[in-house]
Amino acid sequence: MDLFYKIFFNLHSWNRYTILAGGVAVIFFAVQGLRNKSDYGNAGKKSMYLYLSGLHFQLVAGLVLYFFASPVTTQAISDFGAAMKDSTMRYWAVEHAFVNFIAIAIAQTGSILLKRKTDDKSKHRAALIWTSISLALILLMIPMGMMGIERPWFRF
Ligand code: HEM
Repeated sequence: MDLFYKIFFNLHSWNRYTILAGGVAVIFFAVQGLRNKSDYGNAGKKSMYLYLSGLHFQLVAGLVLYFFASPVTTQAISDFGAAMKDSTMRYWAVEHAFVNFIAIAIAQTGSILLKRKTDDKSKHRAALIWTSISLALILLMIPMGMMGIERPWFRF
């Protein structure tokens, strides 16, 4: 594994936990806010910031891997037709990249719409709905076995 690939691969691999922690925190504080009819305050804002920063970083590292560093996707790009016939190659070249890209766009849209809401209940609801949808898609597309592709949970 060359150094360039190793760096981005490990960053992309470990950053999944920032995203998971941020997403779970957003959902937790949104549910709590709706239950207690409380303000959309710092906890909600900070966890949304963590979630989105993690996602933006993941997108950049993912694009670098996809187009320049990963031997899997660079091989797929060089012969896309052949890659589509192989379920593992198709997973990395299409399903993982595309669905996660959509999930990031959904999370970003949610945070923009949330800022336009004027009352706290609507803010909590927007945070809950958009984050839940994006996180569900991400969990489906993390290579932890759900789509038949499994990778180690931790890279040491
Ligand atoms: C929230 C979004 C994402 C999450 C949570 C995520 C997570 C992961 C994980 C856990 C791995 C496996 C790392 C390992 O084996 O240790 C991986 C690999 C990879 N991801 Fe993502 N990813 C996301 C988005 C993306 C996007 C948007 C792209 C492309 C634009 C992308 C491209 C790749 C590539 C190319 C690999 C490496 C395949 C290889 O060389 O084996 N990822 N991703």
